[in-house]
Amino acid sequence: MKFPDGFVWGAASSGPQSEGNFKKQHQNIFDYWYATSPEDFYEDVGPDLASNFYNDYPEDLVLMRRAGIKALRLSIQWTRLIDDLETGSLNADGVEFYTKLFKKMHEVGVEPYVNLFHFDMPVELQHKYGGWQSKHVTDLFELYASQAFKLFGDLVDNWFTFNEPKVIIDGQYLYQFHYPNLVDGPASVQVAYNVNLASAKAIRQFRKIVTNKNATIGSILNLTPAYPASDSSADQKAAEIAELWCNEMFLQPAIHGTYPEKLVKLLDEAGVLWQSTDEEIQLLKDNTIDQLGVNYYHPFRVQAPDVSPKSLQDWMPDIYFKEYLMPGRVDNVDKGWEIYPKALYDIAINVRDHYDNIPWFVSENGMGVSREERFLDDKGVVHDDYRIDFMRDHLSELYRGIEAGSNCNGYFSWTAIDNWSWKNAFRNRYGLIRNEIHTQTKTIKKSGQWYNKLSSTNTLTEK
Ligand code: BG6
Repeated sequence: MKFPDGFVWGAASSGPQSEGNFKKQHQNIFDYWYATSPEDFYEDVGPDLASNFYNDYPEDLVLMRRAGIKALRLSIQWTRLIDDLETGSLNADGVEFYTKLFKKMHEVGVEPYVNLFHFDMPVELQHKYGGWQSKHVTDLFELYASQAFKLFGDLVDNWFTFNEPKVIIDGQYLYQFHYPNLVDGPASVQVAYNVNLASAKAIRQFRKIVTNKNATIGSILNLTPAYPASDSSADQKAAEIAELWCNEMFLQPAIHGTYPEKLVKLLDEAGVLWQSTDEEIQLLKDNTIDQLGVNYYHPFRVQAPDVSPKSLQDWMPDIYFKEYLMPGRVDNVDKGWEIYPKALYDIAINVRDHYDNIPWFVSENGMGVSREERFLDDKGVVHDDYRIDFMRDHLSELYRGIEAGSNCNGYFSWTAIDNWSWKNAFRNRYGLIRNEIHTQTKTIKKSGQWYNKLSSTNTLTEK
């Protein structure tokens, strides 16, 4: 399977999961959570050191290049770049770090794909304003974004506003896996709206500030195609609503600058629709993305909920659908995620047919496995054949989608070097490169060797 010329073979990571906290001025919500409750994190390991990218990046980049990684998606940390969050004044060390980093990336031949927000809300803004619940915070984000564009607009061609807005609402406002671990359905609706608004505000600044002709801006969405558990009309309806809530609530504003009418009606009838103004709705319309990043890990199988939405309970999206764990599914038991590569083909066709066939790429795809030392050989190489199979199966489906005319121009593996994974810390490893975390020794895995061949030949071969 020969991929199109110019297809980008990359890997993705994020600032909070790789850099380590060296010289950061502010804590983000994870830094704070770890400082106050370390026991909530796997083996009490926090983000202090992460994979030491702040110090190791020159060597790490060379290693990545040897694993075939020609582009790296990473994120700037708001808490590192900005000193005064209200005025957007710059932190000198943060400016120096990212400037040197992006220059080094060009020198080594690893193209920077730069994202502005990867779950890392400055904790002061969370405490003072309720984070993304506040529209003032969307203004502060716009200020931060404009600083990043001014500083690095000429060094970076591929920009992104957000990583996985859906996970922000799930983690912080619904299912309690990001600080402050709230359960507040109506707030989650406002947050979803505010994050889309913040993205449009950043895009507005990008269009004003960045004069680099090659530069584009996008957003990164985690898409979980919703498949009904059965042909029953109740399951079908549940899947339709899940699709609106999980995917279309973010896809449509990002690409078309509007919200799905069915979703607006549903939320309005439930009395939880977001607060918006005409001016904001226009802003959204005027500031859509140039390219889409799709993080794909697992599908979302859906069945009708157990109880009627009329039941006496606070509003939560779960009143419309319930996750269905399909018997006999292929599962990654370490993470509890179904492995279903065909969804990547379905995503490719959906983007082609419903989203103007916008240029897009797989901005994350990968497999987290625990205790990979089981698969080490005597040279220190992890034999992660399961990861190679995982990527091959997904890439085969992606290839079919491209053959069918979908405008996909890259694949980014999650992740380059084993990194810190939020509450799971270093439990599940995702890297093409192993990190011995106690010594920070980094060694290319078998999957990294395989990826290098793939990236240099641009051709996927069958097993
Ligand atoms: C994505 C995120 O949701 O999945 C990453 O963008 C994350 O930040 C990755 O690390 C894998 O999930 P987890 O929870 O196993 O780290």
